[in-house]
Amino acid sequence: MKPNPGGILQLDDIVGRDTVVAYLQSALDQQSILIVAERRTGKTHVLEKFKATAPDNWAVIKRDIGGIRSASEFVHYVMADLYPHLEAKTNFRNWLQSTVEQLGGTQIGPLKLPNFATKQWKQMLGDAIAHLDENNAIERVVFLWDELPWMLEIIAKTNPQEAMELLDTLRALRQQHANKLRMVFTGSLGLHHIVRRLKEQGYNNTPVNDMLSIEVEPLALPDAAGLLERLFIDNNLIAATQDIFEETAKSLDCIPFYIHHVVSALLKNPASLQQPIDMQTVSAVIEHGIHSSDNPWDVQHYEDRTSDYYGNQRAECLALLDAVASCTGTLSIADAIRRAKAAYPLIEQQQWIELSRLLERDHYFLRHANGEIGFKFTVVKRWWVWHRSLAMGQTGAAV
Ligand SMILES: Nc1ncnc2c1ncn2[C@@H]1O[C@H](COP(=O)(O)OP(=O)(O)OP(=O)(O)O)[C@@H](O)[C@H]1O
Ligand SMILES: [Mg+2]
Repeated sequence: MKPNPGGILQLDDIVGRDTVVAYLQSALDQQSILIVAERRTGKTHVLEKFKATAPDNWAVIKRDIGGIRSASEFVHYVMADLYPHLEAKTNFRNWLQSTVEQLGGTQIGPLKLPNFATKQWKQMLGDAIAHLDENNAIERVVFLWDELPWMLEIIAKTNPQEAMELLDTLRALRQQHANKLRMVFTGSLGLHHIVRRLKEQGYNNTPVNDMLSIEVEPLALPDAAGLLERLFIDNNLIAATQDIFEETAKSLDCIPFYIHHVVSALLKNPASLQQPIDMQTVSAVIEHGIHSSDNPWDVQHYEDRTSDYYGNQRAECLALLDAVASCTGTLSIADAIRRAKAAYPLIEQQQWIELSRLLERDHYFLRHANGEIGFKFTVVKRWWVWHRSLAMGQTGAAV
């Protein structure tokens, strides 16, 4: 295996994930799922592995819908994706053909899809999905919709009403076809931010409260260390000591994206192939990945997205993030708020508490069993401290 940070891997190169894939399958037998996780933790590859290992009588349809710009376009993709599963065993092909005859059609790949008017998308989607019930050979139809929040964000920019209706229509379809239809939503942008913005524009529904939320965590430590070892062996790198794999995996929070990056950076330096690699060399590569102004590890977005995510509360959020980042260990929420509050004395305690919850939900913070919080990922913390030139203080010490 060659390092491939951010690319699409061959199935054999997707390490670990057996537990989450098995859990996905057993949960999908019952209900639809919302996969939540931080960017770059490996959500898309979990979907790939699930798709490859799903039971034969499940039709699993995976599509990245992040670039779709309207509900009608979305419905066209659903029709095209359903076609291979329904064509032979249902009336779907005839229905599609007669709709094309009525409304005119556009050739998309091998298929001619109907040119329905924008207003008809709901009806069309409902009619297309209804054909699932005619195919008894399929036990479950699972749509894996990657980057669904981006699609909603794009639609909501020009037509918030349509984004709201799409969410509601999908929920209604899940109820109507509860015996067979399943959906998996995921993406690099939190769906809760989209729903919150829609609520600011009058949306009143809870569009995903029937779905089970599952978090994709980083790799398990043995899998992360194993991935690194395999990348070393396959690329003729020699480890000075065996414990380098586990130590490196730990300092990368077991996130496979960073592991691929480290090996890729090692290979750039010809000296890596000539002498055994020790932890000092690896640490220098990690430091460069985190500190490089080219942002190769894509960490800059942790700050960039705060303006989008937290709007007019951004300054307070940054203060809270700084307060927690600049503490060497974990600290109580009360201490974190006390530190952040110094600069914003007028903000009420309740608002600080809500902000800290939001930052936890957006994977900046992790709340430990003793109630204290800290950064969830050490890589992000290291970048945050460095990027914002924070001075480090003692655990929990009030400023
Ligand atoms: N199970 C895995 N085994 C090996 N490498 C992996 C695995 N999962 C992810 N990676 C590495 O991490 C990179 C990012 O993974 P992936 O695209 O699945 O993350 P994501 O969570 O979907 O990211 P985004 O939030 O940007 O959509 C991959 O290109 C690959 O280099
Ligand atoms: Mg992805």
